[in-house]
Amino acid sequence: MFSLDALPYARVPLLGGPTAVERVASAGLTGGAGPGESVWVKREDRAGTLYGGNKVRKLEWLLGDALESGRDVLTAGTAGSNHLVATAVYGRAVGVQVLAVVAPQPDTPTARRNARILHAHAERLWVARTEAEVPFAFARAWAATRLFGGASPAVLPVGGSSPLGALGWVGAGLELAAQVAAGELPAPDRVYVALGSGGTVAGLLVGLRLAGLPTEVVAVRAAPSWLASPWRVQRLAGATLALLCRHGAHSVSLGGVRYVEGQYGAGYALPTPAAIDATSRAAAVGLALEGTYTAKAYAAMLAEPGGVRLFVHTANSWPLEPLLTSALDDVPGSLKGLLR
Ligand SMILES: Cc1ncc(COP(=O)(O)O)c(C=O)c1O
Repeated sequence: MFSLDALPYARVPLLGGPTAVERVASAGLTGGAGPGESVWVKREDRAGTLYGGNKVRKLEWLLGDALESGRDVLTAGTAGSNHLVATAVYGRAVGVQVLAVVAPQPDTPTARRNARILHAHAERLWVARTEAEVPFAFARAWAATRLFGGASPAVLPVGGSSPLGALGWVGAGLELAAQVAAGELPAPDRVYVALGSGGTVAGLLVGLRLAGLPTEVVAVRAAPSWLASPWRVQRLAGATLALLCRHGAHSVSLGGVRYVEGQYGAGYALPTPAAIDATSRAAAVGLALEGTYTAKAYAAMLAEPGGVRLFVHTANSWPLEPLLTSALDDVPGSLKGLLR
């Protein structure tokens, strides 16, 4: 099987080994599991040691690259973004300074907590008061890093979804295939993943296909369609595969993705009745979901009974107390004011 170990890119070890796959008790399913039916969860929520979720795998490569080239990173996201939090937390842990442009988003308990962690761990933040202001804030941030001849930072796209970041999720696809081969779970018929900036779905798709697993990838849209689109996923998956083919991977067909639109609801981070129901069903089997991404993906899985289903738990579930070193009162009004 193709291995990422031979790639000539720096990688900083953050993951701490493969994430577990566990069978979900039928009590969490609508009406219980029928014959031949089972539900599994890939515990990405326990990736890494500081902050779990789907960003850890991407950051192994993205921060590895920044460390190797001795650069800061500059990125962007909303005030409650898991990408910004994970980048700031792991950046600080490995010695990469994280600079970020921060945009508004709905005020939720998760977003408030993330804004506190971001404030405590990022090196410097630039606030964009509207989405339209993001490019200008980015230009200000870029100019500030170059003042007095400073080195240009490594720019990470929204969500860390570049081909380099997606390599992390190629690794997840290969890892899952190895877990199937080792008998830890049956080959899933369908894998359910929340879709945001696309790096998770794109990388997973490439990894599964390189490993020869025909599992259908069900991408559940949880972010605005300008960001979370089939076109972007397919383009990113193609670019990621092309990068791997330059280093010995064989070409594979990247079909077998289904895009679910119906769980998104009225907008980004806004709850839907199905997501609220999914959150309490998941809680009944010991899985803590957040409302923006994972509750919508779990709701999509509950809506499609039958077969062997795998839910990828992409949100953090490590306790956050060690990271909550800033009180909400310490967070500057300009950042807090982005939560509306
Ligand atoms: C908890 C969670 N799940 C899923 C996603 C979607 O991942 P991607 O941006 O790679 O599509 C995100 C993105 O921020 C996320 O925070």
